[in-house]
This record gives sequence, structure tokens and C-alpha cells, in this order.
Amino acid sequence: MTLGKSAKETNMDEQTPKPDPSLFEQMRNRLTPDGLPTDDRGRMRMVVDSLVLHLHPAKTEVNSMKWTYTWGLGGLSALLMMILGLTGIVLLNNYTPAAPQAYLDILEINSNVWFGELIRNMHHWSANLLIVVAVLHLIRVFATGAYRPPRELNWLIGVAMLLLILGANFTGYLLPWDQLAYWAITVGTSIVSYVPLIGAGLGRLVLGGPEVGANTLLNFYSMHISFIPLAIFSLMSYHFWRVRKDGGLTIPKSSTQTEDPKPERVTTIPHLVHRELIFAVAWTAALLTFSMFIPAPLEGIANPGLSPNPAKAPWYFMGLQELLLHFHPLVGAIIIPTLAIIGIFTLPFFDLNAKSVGVYFRSQRGRSLTVLATGLALISTPVWVLLDEYLLNWTLWLPTWDTLISNGLIPLAVILLPLIFLDDWIHKSFKADTEERVLFIASFLFTSFIVLTLIGIFFRGPGMSLYFPWNMPVH
Ligand code: HEM
Repeated sequence: MTLGKSAKETNMDEQTPKPDPSLFEQMRNRLTPDGLPTDDRGRMRMVVDSLVLHLHPAKTEVNSMKWTYTWGLGGLSALLMMILGLTGIVLLNNYTPAAPQAYLDILEINSNVWFGELIRNMHHWSANLLIVVAVLHLIRVFATGAYRPPRELNWLIGVAMLLLILGANFTGYLLPWDQLAYWAITVGTSIVSYVPLIGAGLGRLVLGGPEVGANTLLNFYSMHISFIPLAIFSLMSYHFWRVRKDGGLTIPKSSTQTEDPKPERVTTIPHLVHRELIFAVAWTAALLTFSMFIPAPLEGIANPGLSPNPAKAPWYFMGLQELLLHFHPLVGAIIIPTLAIIGIFTLPFFDLNAKSVGVYFRSQRGRSLTVLATGLALISTPVWVLLDEYLLNWTLWLPTWDTLISNGLIPLAVILLPLIFLDDWIHKSFKADTEERVLFIASFLFTSFIVLTLIGIFFRGPGMSLYFPWNMPVH
């Protein structure tokens, strides 16, 4: 007999026919046979059991959910990758990687494919936004020292993903096969030829011939739709898994806090998952709206015989193109970028102080030093660009010297020596420790690179000469 019920009541229950569950109820019962949980414990179990939410732990640290700590940048990168994957599939179904058909297909997508233009715009803007967001995420991780042990490996995975994101953008840039695409890729790939010894062969390998042509389009297309997205999505899964393996996110601390904050955890559902959903819906809506009104650029069909003036690389490589205007190609295109990439990869291995993990800019002194470094870079970079454009002429002053030395190593030394001096000065005068010195140098170099990128994008006109944007001659 059932507890609490008389034999008569039980009999009546059995006799009253139950209405057939609706189709929706049947489906819900199949998916959640025990019903939806109503208390925290039940929700925790559901998280643990759920395949979708195995991404998150059952409980999340309240402090690490603060918007002003992560700014949701990692999540936004993931959302953009999803949007890129989905919109990319639609584009893929309507595109032929052959010249000139590729260009005609883009026109067709823009005019005759159902929501084709909107989907193309979404793909274009999400891809460009992803570069900005992933770089901001890297800066957030760097600024909070979140790459220190045990998170070094996740930093390395992150840097690899960023390089792949640049690769995805670069290979995708050529696909519309318009003038913009053709010449930007011609300029961008010319950098490969400066690699010592193997440059020419490597260039041919990448281009599939002596110059950008039908084979390049096919090579870039296959990289763009297979290897690169596969590698990014695989690394993303590994990245998320590592966040969990490393004990969740780092926890924010104020610069005056000496003790680690007390752990305070809440159930992931609904506290974190709801926030993520709202964030994702808001960003998707914003992107949709933007893409409805701002079309992705498309110029006339590629014409290898008609070079635009100036011919510029894609915007994210303009800092690199700007470097090439000031240094011997071996230094500007190979040595400096290689050192920069090695530097970024190895940052977590000489910046180890676990105490300041979670503190934005390490300490009060770290904050002042970051402001100082940023300010110095904002002033000295344009001054150096102007000096080099109008005054410095190393090759003329040292005509008998190899240009690699006169126009490469000498200007490099002229820039590095003051930086070494500055580092020594902040070490001695401000008692800056290793972490703060790393922060100072990295802030200086990073700001400097952003300034070079902006100069390249907005201040370079015909013949790559300097112009004010509002005085730019129109060709
Ligand atoms: C497709 C690109 C990327 C995606 C989808 C992604 C995603 C995420 C997510 C969702 C988180 C946790 C939440 C957050 O911190 O916002 C995270 C954390 C982290 N990411 Fe990324 N990330 C990407 C690129 C990068 C890059 C470029 C780096 C650095 C080089 C990086 C290094 C890290 C590290 C070290 C953490 C742990 C941070 C902490 O514990 O505070 N990630 N990432």
C-alpha cells in the first residue's frame, strides 16, 4: 500500500484515466525523465549530468564572473567563431574557388541568394571583430597576470589560436577575388619572399606560382575551409578544457589586497549560464543590426594589370607594412616579427609572481608604469616615424655599408638602446620588479605597434607617403 493514502484513494487514482501527455510533454519527459530541477542541488546534478554543460563546472566562483574582470572577451571570441562557422557554411555552398567565377558568385550571393548579403556581411564583420576581440582577450589575460603557472600552456594555445585567426582572415581576404582582395594579398604575401634562403621557394609554395593567381585562390580556399577552422575549433575545445583543469578562471584581486579572496561559489545554472545567454543574444543582435546596414566591401573584379596606389596589406598587417617602410626587409618583415612572436610565446616563463595574479596591472606602481609606457609610446612612435620619413637617411649617410646594417641593424639599435635605458631607469628609480618591468616594456611595444598600424591605415596615401586623413588625395 502507498504511504499516506487509503486503499480507497489508491483505487480511485488507478481508475481515473490520465489524459495523454501532449507531444511537447512527451518530448520533455524523454529529455528530462526526472523533470526539471527546482532547487540548487538538483540544478548542480543537472549540470554535472548534462553533456552540453560539461563545459562548465557545477559551481562557479562569484568573483571570476565579474564583467569588469574578463569583459566576456573569451566568450565573445567563442561566439564569433560559432557565427563564422555557421555563416561560412552558407557561403561555402554558393561559392566556386576559381577566377573569375569566385567574383561572380559573390555578386550572386549579394543579390540572389536568400539573405545572402546579410550572411556575407555577418561573416565579414565577425571575422574582423574576432581579431580585435581575441587581441583584447590576450591583453586582459596579460594585464591580470593570468598566464602565470599553472596556466602557461593555455596561454601558448591562445597565442597559437590568435595566429590561426590571423591566417583565417588572411586566406579569406582573397576569396571575393576583387581588386581589394587581389592587391592586399599581393602585398601581404610579398613579405614571405624576405625569408632568408628559402623566401623565393616559400613564396611559390604559398602562391602556387610566381604571383597571386588561380592556384593561390584554390590554395587559400582549401586552407580557409579545412585546416584552419579545424585547427581553431580543436584548439578551442582544448583551451576550454584547460581552463577547467587549471582550476577555473583566475580570481580578481585589488592592488591593495594581500590575502587571496575567500572562495564564494554559486551554481553555474542559472547564475553563469543566464549571463552567458543574455550576452550572446545581445552581441548576436548587435552584429545582425550592424550587418544589415553596413555592407562588407566589394570592389571591381581583380585586375592583375591595374595596381591601386597605394597598395596596402589587410588592416591587421598594416603595422608590419609600416615597419617595412623604416627597416631593411629582413629586419622589418622577419627579425622584428619573429622576436615579437617568440616574446609573446615565452612571456609566462619569465613573469612568474603568483602573488599578483588577478590584479589588473600587477600593483599600484604597475598601473603608473603602464600609463607612463603607453604615453611614451604614443609620443615617441609618431615622432620617430616623422624623423625617419623626413630626416634620417642611414643609407645616404653610410653609403659603403651593407644596407642590412645601415638601414636595418643601426635603426634597430637606435630604438632598442633607449628602451634598455628606460627599463634600467624604472628598475633603479621606481624599484620596479621583474613583473612590472615586463609590463612596462610590453605596454610600450604593444602601444607602439598599434600606433604604427593606425599610421599605416589612416595616414599613408599614394606612394605610401604621409598625409593627414582629411587631406588624402583621392585616386
Ligand atoms: C578563438 C580564440 C579564443 C577563445 C574562443 C578563447 C576563449 C576563452 C574563454 C571562454 C576563457 C574563459 C573566460 C574569459 O577569460 O573570458 C578563456 C580564458 C583564457 N584564455 Fe582564451 N580564448 C581565445 C584566445 C586566447 C588567446 C589569444 C590567449 C592568449 C594568448 C588566451 C589565453 C587564455 C588564458 C590564459 C585563459 C585563462 C584566464 C584566467 O584564468 O583568468 N586565449 N579563453
